[in-house]
Amino acid sequence: MSEAANPIPFEARYSVPPVELIEDSPAEIRLKQERITRLKEERNAVILAHNYQRDEVQEVADFVGDSLGLSQQAAATPADVIVFCGVHFMAETAAILCPQKIVLLPDLRAGCSLAATITADELRAWKARYPDAVVVAYVNTSAEVKAESDYCCTSANAAKIVRAIPPERPILFIPDKFLAAFVARETGRPNIIAYPGSCHVHRAIRPQQVVNMMNEHPDIELLIHPECGCVASCMARVADGTLPRDRTLFLSTEGMMRHIGESKADEFAVGTEVGMLHRLRKMAPEKVFRPVNPEAVCEFMKTITLDRVLRSLEILEPQICVPEETARRARRAIDRMLEIV
Ligand code: 13P
Ligand code: SF4
Repeated sequence: MSEAANPIPFEARYSVPPVELIEDSPAEIRLKQERITRLKEERNAVILAHNYQRDEVQEVADFVGDSLGLSQQAAATPADVIVFCGVHFMAETAAILCPQKIVLLPDLRAGCSLAATITADELRAWKARYPDAVVVAYVNTSAEVKAESDYCCTSANAAKIVRAIPPERPILFIPDKFLAAFVARETGRPNIIAYPGSCHVHRAIRPQQVVNMMNEHPDIELLIHPECGCVASCMARVADGTLPRDRTLFLSTEGMMRHIGESKADEFAVGTEVGMLHRLRKMAPEKVFRPVNPEAVCEFMKTITLDRVLRSLEILEPQICVPEETARRARRAIDRMLEIV
């Protein structure tokens, strides 16, 4: 695998919103959730929430899942309104798949540091240098970037998508360099050219934190999201035997859910955003889940609060719309992915 050079400072492209502390009592939370549920029915709306959402937002959702599951739910829902409790690119994906529906994103500050690392202009310039390459875009990209791409993928299916592409074709993999490295190793494919983007939350999950976790809890099972900064080091350690192969798993957020349903282990180290712990603990309350980095909080995801969900349902704003031509072109890449998975 090779990596593209990029002189543009990614940190300058986004600003991280503050994480609001919610001081509602359990009774106030319940009341807001009940009002949301009533209004949702009146509006014939469905609430889709990503696994990194605040606990109380996950609890009011009709479906909680990973990027792939949420797109599949959006594509299939008979509702007139989709309230997307996630980040902007996810709501855009829903809007692309359901152009006739109202797609709401309760707070427009819900961006994504990873999606911000590449623009459509940058991708066009990069493609011009590799005219015979196939572009595989991680779902964490804007609609304009997807419109310039051949295939979309998520962390749950990236290796499968790459395997579906003829081996002689070079692949421009955008925008996450850690996921690209993971896919290159999984598929053994040498002709993957990685864009140098990363997510500010996942790159802060470091190899040393994994080492410390294993020293303190030698029998723990490691669940690592492939966007993490520790991925390459963990894969190398699995290969040289310093991490146990059978207890080190690289999984999407939904993959983690599936895995704990099947695993006999009692204790898990979770290498991803901490919102994930809510669902894991709810699904298996008898098991112990420890965050590899307890400070891995996605501030963008946390902008979505019950108050904003409620307001959004009341006023049917802010709506996410994708221009028709961009949506048509982006949809090709998303549909190609949905046909493979
Ligand atoms: P998943 O596809 O695993 O839900 O990940 C999406 C994401 O934004 C990770 O940070
Ligand atoms: Fe984007 Fe990272 Fe937040 Fe996921 S965790 S939405 S990749 S900023």
